[in-house]
Amino acid sequence: MRTIAIVNQKGGSGKTTTSVNLAATLAEAGQRVLLIDLDPQASASLWYGFKEKGKGLYDVFTDGTRMEEVIEATSVERLSLIPSSPLLAGVEKALANEVAAESILKDKFHNMPEKPYDFLLMDCPPTLGILSLNALTIASEVLIPVEAHVMALHGLVQLLKTIGVVKQRLNPTLEIAGILPCRVDYRTKHSQEVLDQLRNRFEGKVFQSVIRENIRLAEAPLHVKPIIEYDPLCNGSHDYRKLAKELLTVQQPKPATVTSAF
Ligand SMILES: Nc1ncnc2c1ncn2[C@@H]1O[C@H](COP(=O)(O)OP(=O)(O)OP(=O)(O)O)[C@@H](O)[C@H]1O
Ligand SMILES: [Mg+2]
Repeated sequence: MRTIAIVNQKGGSGKTTTSVNLAATLAEAGQRVLLIDLDPQASASLWYGFKEKGKGLYDVFTDGTRMEEVIEATSVERLSLIPSSPLLAGVEKALANEVAAESILKDKFHNMPEKPYDFLLMDCPPTLGILSLNALTIASEVLIPVEAHVMALHGLVQLLKTIGVVKQRLNPTLEIAGILPCRVDYRTKHSQEVLDQLRNRFEGKVFQSVIRENIRLAEAPLHVKPIIEYDPLCNGSHDYRKLAKELLTVQQPKPATVTSAF
């Protein structure tokens, strides 16, 4: 099983759009996928039509609730979801005195009696707090969506450093699956320049696939459907199918050291 944390501390970089739609295109390609929504904003959960219920991910973090108790089926065959809850915003505080709080999710996942999944994807919040650290501790790979805008590049070096520290201290087998350029608009010179810069500076770490700017991707959550159900033939569906294919072709990420990019 491949466990992928979808991370970027910068808000609005395409994490949720990528989590929701990559989960769907991997499932479409025959993979069994579990998506965990680790963001208190609950955008991925709402996208699949889930609102807060009683027991939720907060209880998995803070009491004896088992992970299998909070897994839900989605409209997409082979895709299951652990929805978020706004209570998750309080997890940081609730776990302030907990020893090894960053590995709670990993322990709970390992204790699941059955794991009928090929992929575990985790949509992280735009902070590198305890929720994202839990994702990075359980993950074998990190996928970093980056908006194709020059401002978005600034935080990237810092993020790679943080991932390097996590690798050193918490999760030695963590690798970078890839940096994913999102909202790419080939009509603008700026977008193309940022893409070139990304490929030059982070050579070998940027996916061949890119996600183009596509209004259908912004509309899809309002229709409570992943892009391949909302508009199967649009650019967004094409791009996320291509990304799924690329991930499946490159079975495991290249064993690159995460600190070698700078
Ligand atoms: N390829 C795209 N084309 C058009 N709009 C997009 C695309 N990708 C993302 N968006 C839009 O950009 C906004 C931010 O995207 P998204 O919610 O996926 O980012 P995020 O990193 O999850 O944000 P947050 O940090 O708040 O969790 C959303 O309004 C989304 O609809
Ligand atoms: Mg999000």
